[in-house]
Amino acid sequence: MKLLVCGGAGFIGSNFTRQRLTENGDAVTVLDKLTYAGREENLADVRDRDGFAFVHAGVEDREAVEAAAEGCDAIVNFAAETHVDRSIAEPDAFVTTHGLGTYVLLEVARARGLRYVQVSTDEVYGSIETGSFTEASPLAPSSPYSATKAGADLLVASYRHTYGLETVICRGSNNYGPYQYPEKLIPLMVLNALHGDRLPVYGDGMQVRNWIYVEDFARGIGAALEHGEPGDVYNVGGPDECPNLEVVERIVALTGGNDSLIEYVTDRPGHDRRYSLSSDRVRGLGWEPQVRFAEGLERTVGWYRDNAWWWEPIRSGDYRAYYERQYGRQLG
Ligand code: NAD
Ligand code: DAU
Repeated sequence: MKLLVCGGAGFIGSNFTRQRLTENGDAVTVLDKLTYAGREENLADVRDRDGFAFVHAGVEDREAVEAAAEGCDAIVNFAAETHVDRSIAEPDAFVTTHGLGTYVLLEVARARGLRYVQVSTDEVYGSIETGSFTEASPLAPSSPYSATKAGADLLVASYRHTYGLETVICRGSNNYGPYQYPEKLIPLMVLNALHGDRLPVYGDGMQVRNWIYVEDFARGIGAALEHGEPGDVYNVGGPDECPNLEVVERIVALTGGNDSLIEYVTDRPGHDRRYSLSSDRVRGLGWEPQVRFAEGLERTVGWYRDNAWWWEPIRSGDYRAYYERQYGRQLG
């Protein structure tokens, strides 16, 4: 297959691209705007492979998307603004990328008759106290991030219903693993713990997330791409749930850090208490998560410990200013 992978220089998109090139024999063109979260370094080990191409452009740029889609069989869309805290502070880019960007990709897929995979999130369902969301659960997003992702999902569904476009939507739970930008809980805590910096826990730290190792999510998206029923949504949830405080304590133990670095800070406005996905439908496509949280977390800590080349430029650049704004103190 030849794929156009939008947002493929980010965390999950780069892991997916690596998997498709090395395990599935696909050709992949990555189209990415290279925002602060998109980095060519994420693709350093695959950029010289046959079948790989990179286009530096935004998904809202129709001409660039049309040219990049030439000869492709499918579009897989990861391109997004993904940090909930940033969506609360500055929602603009979330509306443009998720709204206009998704529209442009759908139009190009329609004009060329391409299969279309939208990568979405469990956050579109909102928070759930007990039990798990199925694909039939109502959408009840809480933040500008999840509301604009839900809007994109509805637009995708409308292109299936109105134009018969071959669409599938994959809703993933919280991903973790190599190449995740250190604004997200796990890489932030790993790097802070390794540096002896404070570990900021929002509110009481008892919010629960359903953790999935990034390679498992990438495989779930691959299963939906190859075998998903057009028009269907597939939840792809991880095998384990864990409260944030326990995640941080496990990271402290794995890094040999110090519990006294844990600091309770002001909660995120509108903070969702718990996410949980039922993934029976994607299991029907032959998918199973391979990596339990304990093993994946150990691997992830090991990867950050061994790959300072990847995170050193981040911690010494614009990220410092972001960190100061977000946590009201200097990094380090
Ligand atoms: P990320 O922030 O690491 O990467 C996003 C990528 O999109 C970056 O490479 C960025 O440069 C690119 N991008 C942003 N705006 C763009 C635009 N207008 N045009 C082209 N490229 C653009 O995000 P991620 O964690 O890899 O998430 C990828 C997708 O998976 C997103 O759609 C997200 O909603 C979804 N998702 C993420 C998680 C998670 O836990 N991280 C869970 C479920 C679903
Ligand atoms: O559920 C899937 C979603 O997971 C994706 O759609 C999003 O793109 C992704 O960012 C992630 O959203 P969360 O808000 O759950 O992830 P984040 O890593 O920002 O936070 C995880 C939990 O940890 C959340 O309850 C907030 C808390 N937290 C986060 C940070 C950054 C802290 O307690 N302290 C922190 O410093």
